[in-house]
Amino acid sequence: MNLIFFGPPGGGKGTQARLLAARRGFPQISTGDILREAVAAGTALGREARRYMDAGDLVPDAVMVGLIQQRLDRPDTGEGFTLDGFPRTLHQAQALERLLAAMEREIDRAVEFQIDEETVIRRLSGRRVCAAGGHIYHVEFAPPRRDGVCDNDGSPLRQREDDRPEVIRRRLEVYRREIPAVLEFYTTRGLLVAIDAAADEETVYGRLEEVLAAA
Ligand code: AP5
Repeated sequence: MNLIFFGPPGGGKGTQARLLAARRGFPQISTGDILREAVAAGTALGREARRYMDAGDLVPDAVMVGLIQQRLDRPDTGEGFTLDGFPRTLHQAQALERLLAAMEREIDRAVEFQIDEETVIRRLSGRRVCAAGGHIYHVEFAPPRRDGVCDNDGSPLRQREDDRPEVIRRRLEVYRREIPAVLEFYTTRGLLVAIDAAADEETVYGRLEEVLAAA
């Protein structure tokens, strides 16, 4: 199944995409993770992306479309995938549709994680991620067994650069500006389903499975 996850920063897209990958085997394609890896590796892409990401702005569409094309060409996407963080603009949605059509593929479901801003701010300010595998924790809602250490690979946990309050505000503004046109695009194609994401991880996962079972 080819899926897209939408939702505000901190809405839980990455957490649910990882659960789905572990339990159902659909690879998570997180454009945020791909960009952060490029930043960490100091590549040309990483250097360009960093200034947008640190400010909470979107990386230009042309860069993102090229990046997603390369990722979808990899063989692990053959049985399905979850796009986490792409598309984020109408232009990206249109480009994705063309790209998939050329591969004789299509999106099966677009899932919007609906959640209030007060909750996302609380989630983002307590989020910690591991330096090695990007595993996601929360100091209050999903703490690691040992403080500051990843349960999966033992690497140190850190706060994301863009989880500072002023950058969170900007990311939310950008999301509110861009997402209505993208959601409209998938609504007109009969693909959009919304789920209430303001619940614990397993409850949200159960809602997601229900949506997928009905697809
Ligand atoms: P990206 O990494 O995609 O960030 P985002 O969309 O802002 O989403 P987040 O990763 O912040 O949140 P999430 O919804 O995955 O939440 P999570 O599961 O971690 O993008 C970063 C930047 O890259 C962008 O700002 C932009 O610059 C650039 N970029 C990326 N894609 C782009 C594109 N297509 N075009 C242009 N630019 C692009 O959860 C958050 C916290 O809450 C965690 O601590 C977690 O443990 C906790 N949590 C999760 N679920 C629950 C729950 N049910 N109950 C309690 N706590 C929970």
